[in-house]
Amino acid sequence: MKVYLETMGCQMNRLDSELVTASLRAAGHEMVDDHGQAEVVLYNTCSVRRHAEEKVYSRLGGDSRRKAHHRPRLILGVLGCMAQREGQELARRFGGLDIVCGPGQLARLPELIAAAAAGGRVVALDPDPIEARRAERASPAIADSGISDLKSGDGGADEADFDALDLARDPSPLTPTGQAGEVFDSPKGRPLGPLTGVRVNAQAYVRVMKGCDNFCTYCIVPLVRGPERSRRPERIVQECRRLVDAGVTEITLLGQTVNRYRWSDGGKTVRFSDLLACVADVPHLRRLRFITSHPLDFTDDILHIMAGRSNICEYIHLPPQSGSDAVLGRMNRKYTRGRYDELVDRARQIVPGVVLAGDFIVGFPGETEADHEASAGLMRRSGFKNSFIFKYSPRPGTAAERNMPDDVPEEVKRRRNNELLAVQQQVGLAHHRSYIGASAEVLVEGPSVRAAKQGFEPTAERTQLVGRTRGDHIVHFLGPQSLTGQYVRVRITEATSLALRGEKEEEKEEKEEKEEKEEKEEEAV
Ligand code: 5AD
Ligand code: SF4
Repeated sequence: MKVYLETMGCQMNRLDSELVTASLRAAGHEMVDDHGQAEVVLYNTCSVRRHAEEKVYSRLGGDSRRKAHHRPRLILGVLGCMAQREGQELARRFGGLDIVCGPGQLARLPELIAAAAAGGRVVALDPDPIEARRAERASPAIADSGISDLKSGDGGADEADFDALDLARDPSPLTPTGQAGEVFDSPKGRPLGPLTGVRVNAQAYVRVMKGCDNFCTYCIVPLVRGPERSRRPERIVQECRRLVDAGVTEITLLGQTVNRYRWSDGGKTVRFSDLLACVADVPHLRRLRFITSHPLDFTDDILHIMAGRSNICEYIHLPPQSGSDAVLGRMNRKYTRGRYDELVDRARQIVPGVVLAGDFIVGFPGETEADHEASAGLMRRSGFKNSFIFKYSPRPGTAAERNMPDDVPEEVKRRRNNELLAVQQQVGLAHHRSYIGASAEVLVEGPSVRAAKQGFEPTAERTQLVGRTRGDHIVHFLGPQSLTGQYVRVRITEATSLALRGEKEEEKEEKEEKEEKEEKEEEAV
C-alpha cells in the first residue's frame, strides 16, 4: 500500500520514523511524499508541548472528514507519544482513526496495518509506564542482576523485542546498501538519501537507551516513553559497525538522557564514557556525536574521553532549562545553578573548543522576573551556540500540572520568550563570529533549501551547499552538488547568530593545477 508518514517532535521520533519506514518497505509497502495519494496516513506524534498535539488534532480532523466524505478506505494511524498518552480516548474522539500505536509497539506496525486493512480498529499500547516501574521495583533481585535492563517494552524479559526495530534496520553485511540511506537530517527531519534522491547516507542516528526516570516535574516523557533502559553495548557497537560498512561516516547516539547510559552484566558495568570509547573505535567512523545530555550525570570521565578521541565531536547539547535555583528545584532538575556553571567551566577546560547548546523553559510556575534574569545570565555566561526556548505548557499527569498553578500569564511568557531569544541572538552572534577567518571541516548535507527558496539558480558546478562542522555549526558555501555527503574544508568569512558562511578551500592539487594553468596562460600572452 502507499503510505504517508509525517514526523513531529524530537530526534527519537525521527529515528523511530526512519526505522518504521524501513520495516514498512520490507513488508512491501511504498512510502509516498504526497499525502493526497496515500492509502495509509500515519502521524508519528509528540506530546512534549500542547502546541505539537494541537497540530495533530487539526490534521486528524481534516483527514477524518476526507475519509467520511470521499475516501472511506483510507487508513489513518497515530503513532508515538500522543498515541500512548491518549490511547483509547483518541480513537473515541476521531471516529475515522484505525490505528493507535505506542512508541514501544512500532515493530508491530506492518501487522497493525494489515489488521486495519482487513477492517479492524487496532490500539497497541505499551504497558502503563508507572506500573512498569512499580513492577520492576517489586522484583529487586532482577533489577540488581542487571536483567532489568533487558526487559522489553511489553514488560517481558525478551531483549530482542526491546530493540527489535533498531536491529531490523541494520544493513546486513550481505546487502551493504541496506536501509542506512533512510537516515534523517537534523534539525527539521528532512529525509536524506533515497527519499529525496539527492542526499547521501553519511549520517545516522543510533539509539542507546529508551525512556527516562528523571521525572522533571514539567515533562511528559517519563509518562509516555516508559522506564529508562539501556541497550546491550555489543548490539550498539554492532549496529554502528554495520552502518559504517554501509557508508555512514557520522553517527549520533541517541537517548533522552544519553549520558545516563549504563549496562551491568556479570559484575561489570559499562558507563556512557565506556560506550563512547567503544563506538569511537569502530574503524572508519569519522564523527561521533551524542544527544541529549543531562547536566546532573555529566561526569568528567565523559569529558576526558571526548578530549582523547579525535572522532568524538566537541559538541554538547546540555539543557539547563532555567538559571534560577528556585525554579530548578521546582522543576526537580537535581542540580543547582552553581553546579551547572562549574560543569560548563570544566567542559571548556577539558575539551578544547567545546561547543554548547541549551534548552530553556520560560514561564514555569512561580517564575519571577529575578528568576528570568538568572536564566538570561546563565545564557550569557555559557556562550551557547544556540538555544531552544519554550514557553511552559502544562502537560496532563505531570507533577507540575497536578501541583503547581500555571500562574505566569501568557503575555509574560511571550515577553520572556522574546527576551531570551534576543539574548541568545547576541550570544550566538558573538559565538559564530569567533570563527571568522578559521578553517572548518564541513560534512556537506546537500543543497541549501533556503537558497532554493530565495531563487538562487544552481549550475552543475556551483550551488548553495549547506553542511555542519564538528561543533554542529551550520555552514553555507558555494560548490558542486556532487560534494553532498563529503567532508570539505571551508574558510569562514561571515557569521550570523545562527550560521556561518564561507568559501571552500582549494585542495592542494586543485590549487597547483590552477596555478599551472594560470602560468601557462601568462606564457601564452
Ligand atoms: N513545556 C515547555 N517546554 C517543555 N519541554 C519539555 N516539557 C515541556 C513543557 N511541559 C522542553 C524542555 C526540553 C525540550 C525537549 O522541551 O526544554 O528540553
Ligand atoms: Fe523529560 Fe527531564 Fe527526562 Fe529530559 S530528563 S526527558 S526533561 S524528564
